Amino acid sequence: MVHSFIQKNMNEDKNLISAIANILSSDEYNEELFLQADKVKRENFANNIYIRGIIEFSNYCRQSCSYCGINVKMRDIKRYRMQPQDLIDCAVKTAQVYKTVILQSGEDTFYTAEMMANIIGEIKNNVDCALTLSIGERTFDEYSIMKKAGADRFLIKHETADAVLYEKLHGKSLEERLSCHKMLRELGFELGSGFMIGLPSQTDEILAKDLLLLKEMEVEMAGIGPFISHSKTPLVGEKNGDPNKTLKVLALARLLLPKCNLPSTTALNVMGGMKNALFCGANVIMQKATPFEYRALYDIYPGRDAKEIPIEEQRAELDRSLSEMGLHSV
Ligand code: 5AD
Repeated sequence: MVHSFIQKNMNEDKNLISAIANILSSDEYNEELFLQADKVKRENFANNIYIRGIIEFSNYCRQSCSYCGINVKMRDIKRYRMQPQDLIDCAVKTAQVYKTVILQSGEDTFYTAEMMANIIGEIKNNVDCALTLSIGERTFDEYSIMKKAGADRFLIKHETADAVLYEKLHGKSLEERLSCHKMLRELGFELGSGFMIGLPSQTDEILAKDLLLLKEMEVEMAGIGPFISHSKTPLVGEKNGDPNKTLKVLALARLLLPKCNLPSTTALNVMGGMKNALFCGANVIMQKATPFEYRALYDIYPGRDAKEIPIEEQRAELDRSLSEMGLHSV
């Protein structure tokens, strides 16, 4: 049994790395693994699927992540940023439909910590919701200001646990990213991390280390999705991540972190994996709540959903299709 093997070896990282890598190396459909992950998910969350609304409020970014379609070196793309009041209004409306709102952007220093604090405070004053930030690397003091203003959670993926690969993709060190995690923890944020499957030169051992890093950090949330090659980035022409392998990594994450919030990531949805993910351990869905005019511009990877469906309708449609699957949306 995969599950009991993992539990038995939890304290012996070396064994665990090779055991996990071994599971991942097979191309076969691993029904046993998926059934176990689904069972553990149901033990912890019953049939519930948690829906979050995500607002992508700016595509300006100072970072140069080589996989990402809005990185600073993309000179030809149209940039946008929402004005603070528009973002507040949009977030309040979103929170009336989805109880958790995620504010995501590129690393845009236009929004100072004080501005973010004001935005967070206004949203929290107007509506009862959980607020997640996903705005990248900032200083301890900046994170602290945002926490004090009422932000509950912070999502910042480690992207890959391999220091060499991390540096190749980002031109900076993994340590810097991990130090953000430490700061956020210290400040009492609920922490979300995550990584991509199928990055160039990534191995199954690296994926095993990615999983163990989540475990070590005891994250409350982890976004695990396939790498999707963007034609205008330096990674043009690289192979996309394998959806089946992504589902296996997701299922292993569920076994390692039984109570962790695991979304069916949008990158996996692009590849038609949402339904599957919900039966391989995922318990969260993120729904786009970005104003229509900006959806196509938040082009971090191709194939993302830019459909113009009002969020109330989008929610009703999702509730319906979840209930057809025997699942219950929260
Ligand atoms: N393929 C898949 N995921 C990507 N992301 C960025 N670019 C890509 C890509 N080409 C993910 C990263 C980032 C999140 C906002 O989007 O994991 O953390």
